[in-house]
Amino acid sequence: MRPHQVIVTHANMDFDALGAALAARRLYPQAAVVLQGGLNRNVREFANLHADELELVEASRIALDAVTRVIVVDTSQENRLGDVAEVIARAGVEVVLFDHHASPQVPAWVSPGCHVLSDDGALCTTMVAILAERGIEPTPTEATALALGIHEDTGSLTFPTTTVRDIEALAFCARHGAAQEMVGTFLHTPLTADQRTLLTTLLDAAETVEVGGTPVLLCCVRWPAYVDGVSTLATKIVELSDCRALVMAVEMEGRVFVVGRSRVPAFDVRMALEPVGGGGHAQAAAAIVRGEELAQVRARLLDALPGAVAALPRARDIMSTPAWFVDSGTRIDDAMGECRRRHTSGVQVQADGVVVGAVAREDLDRAIGHGLSHAPVRAVMSSQVDTIAPDATLAEVQRGLRETSTGRLAVVADDAGRPASIEAVMGVITRSDLLAALRDRHEPEPAAADADVGDRLLAMPGLNRVWSAVQAAAADFDGVHLVGGAVRDLLLGEPSFDIDLAVEGDGVAFAAELAERLGGRMHPHEKFHTAVVLAGGLRVDVASARTEHYEYPAALPIVEHSSIRRDLFRRDFTINAMAVALRADEFGRLLDPYGGRVDLDAGVIRVLHNLSFIEDPTRIFRAVRYENRHGFRMDARTRELARGCVDMGLVGELSGARTRDELLALLDEASVAGSLARLDELGLAAAVHPGLDCGPAAAELVEQVDRLRERHAPELPRWRARMAVVCRNLLGDDVVELLERLRVRHRDALAVQDAAVVGPRLVGLLGQVATPADVADLLAPHPTEAALLAAALGAGEAEEYLERGAAVRLELDGSVLQRELGVAESPLVGELLAELLRRKRNGELDGAAAELAAARELLAEARA
Ligand code: CTP
Repeated sequence: MRPHQVIVTHANMDFDALGAALAARRLYPQAAVVLQGGLNRNVREFANLHADELELVEASRIALDAVTRVIVVDTSQENRLGDVAEVIARAGVEVVLFDHHASPQVPAWVSPGCHVLSDDGALCTTMVAILAERGIEPTPTEATALALGIHEDTGSLTFPTTTVRDIEALAFCARHGAAQEMVGTFLHTPLTADQRTLLTTLLDAAETVEVGGTPVLLCCVRWPAYVDGVSTLATKIVELSDCRALVMAVEMEGRVFVVGRSRVPAFDVRMALEPVGGGGHAQAAAAIVRGEELAQVRARLLDALPGAVAALPRARDIMSTPAWFVDSGTRIDDAMGECRRRHTSGVQVQADGVVVGAVAREDLDRAIGHGLSHAPVRAVMSSQVDTIAPDATLAEVQRGLRETSTGRLAVVADDAGRPASIEAVMGVITRSDLLAALRDRHEPEPAAADADVGDRLLAMPGLNRVWSAVQAAAADFDGVHLVGGAVRDLLLGEPSFDIDLAVEGDGVAFAAELAERLGGRMHPHEKFHTAVVLAGGLRVDVASARTEHYEYPAALPIVEHSSIRRDLFRRDFTINAMAVALRADEFGRLLDPYGGRVDLDAGVIRVLHNLSFIEDPTRIFRAVRYENRHGFRMDARTRELARGCVDMGLVGELSGARTRDELLALLDEASVAGSLARLDELGLAAAVHPGLDCGPAAAELVEQVDRLRERHAPELPRWRARMAVVCRNLLGDDVVELLERLRVRHRDALAVQDAAVVGPRLVGLLGQVATPADVADLLAPHPTEAALLAAALGAGEAEEYLERGAAVRLELDGSVLQRELGVAESPLVGELLAELLRRKRNGELDGAAAELAAARELLAEARA
């Protein structure tokens, strides 16, 4: 086999690697998935069972000299790639990397910009997200492999690094036919007899080493014969011992196999194994050490352990400050009012500058219920003052909170066992503080409301009735927002205006209500939960706020407008990821969680996340279009990501309606000189077709074509003649194939291909003819774009034709000939008219009388 592209992963391929490799093949359909260095036992069994469909190829069967692109998945370590590592080192070979939890340092062997590094629990999750965004449907077997990968690398969604994305990706796999019983079978393959004996020995040898507060289980064993699947044993030991972290080393056949697992964020097992040449990620890592004895490896591991423990947040890092108090004599309803105002679940109580207790909001509420509003807080407070030291770990905080009755701990530096003065209280920790720290949430805060946005909306001509209908219809919905380009244009003060609404809730129901209030019609698209409302020349597009990558039943929003924020996160650029609230109580509030407004002011096109282009390469065209239209620039990272996506071959042979839409939209802008240069520079032109010309010569020609079109044929769409210019160096068949691939409408395709192919040839032909009528004979059968192109290429005759010839019409027609000269209906009429037109084009006829006289003469000659 001599494939040009190969997909390869680390030795001892696990399910995450297999699933990711299969998904990568959907992105690179020409590539072969190569096996090297063996497979984990359960992966091997799965692969054997599905051999026909999976078409995995042994490295030994591949002629590696033909390979020009290597796609590496699930490892950033070259030495785990076997023979393929040599291919990577070869000049001219492009190397693409997909990995997760890798070191932020991209390996030097990866081609510049050609990497996707994610933080997902499983690489399969990252790949699923890409497939989902691209609308690629995995087969049931692929979905099963992807599901197994996610299960394996997230401990069936239980590892602390598991993200919502992992969970949703698993749901996506299930929807695409992942076989649940297959997942169950392959996830838990029974141990062999050898494995069981080794497992018992490992458990006997287990010792606990305390590293910076984290207990790490260390199991080191010498074994007389090779036993397969040491990593499976590590998983079993974690299950059986319930340890938080494990480092295991087994010496067999002159090598030491090291496997590490961690279930706590504080311990990064990859760092623990790094000194012995290990790789992997924070939760799971492995190494094979040659030429060293078990004792040496163990000693090195012990040395490395302290470096693998991360500094975890302490009480002082998560407390709320400053602490506030109410006096013990404060009325209960006043204390309750204060809790409400400050959004707290309770309050500390002081008397004479000393902390004397705390009270939970629940208790205040209950007391009010019993008619005790006027009583002093001291009557219901708990006089136990629960304190904790600022250096306490989260585990200690958790324990402390469990034991309090008020759900709050005062953080006190000097906990001498006596009542603390209020000055000594550094802050307070409640259950929400702890939960926030455990979740480690970094939700960006929305920008402050923008007073003038509402005014701008109201100032838009003719739309007031829409806003009031939207407000009325929105009353029962969680949120209704104006989104996308409309918000961008509103802030830019641009007149163009599409009304795109995102509804938190059932968008179709909202659209029905809106249509009724506007006295219009509504066309739903139930599958996508979208609808169009048409009312008196007005069009409003309504969508249900898209929450995640995958359709799933809407969950109750936890955070205010959480779904609109997530909807915005799925958009292309920060400048398009803003929303304006339209419900009456928040009309005009700008939601700008990703800094779109700042970027808009600075003229920056910035993607929201690193996978944006990979998930949707048409966005590169959009970036170029916005740069050109508004004089904006992509920021350096966005530019790099765009180039990376192109270099990775992920724009590839573009096809499909969305690409056509974006390419045509780009070519239809008022001016395109900047866009063409950018398409060229980013390698995007070549990705569409290697023969496309978007270089300086094309830009100059487009300028000419634009000038001529503007003057002689302003009714023609701008993009067609420009597309012809860009395609003019392609072979005729290639143009046809390209336009078909882009699914350009038949009529448009004919104009473009004719102009691109015939236009340049006409230049030579026009030089050989003498009269304006001959020129017209050459040009008239072709679309006007052909003449535009010929004229732009310097054929003065073509311009002359556009100026005058194309418009020449006879004043008389066939019926006049029949009536005035008595010519019967016959081919003769056509011949006469053609000859008259020729003469008129050559300037020999002027006016209806001259035409009729000439016709009479011609008729006489014909009858003679
Ligand atoms: N969008 C996206 N990715 C795409 C296409 C669109 O994220 N590939 C989102 C953007 O938020 C965009 C919105 O969908 O603003 C609407 O898309 P569209 O109507 O195509 O573009 P507009 O932003 O309205 O801009 P323009 O009409 O100028 O193209």
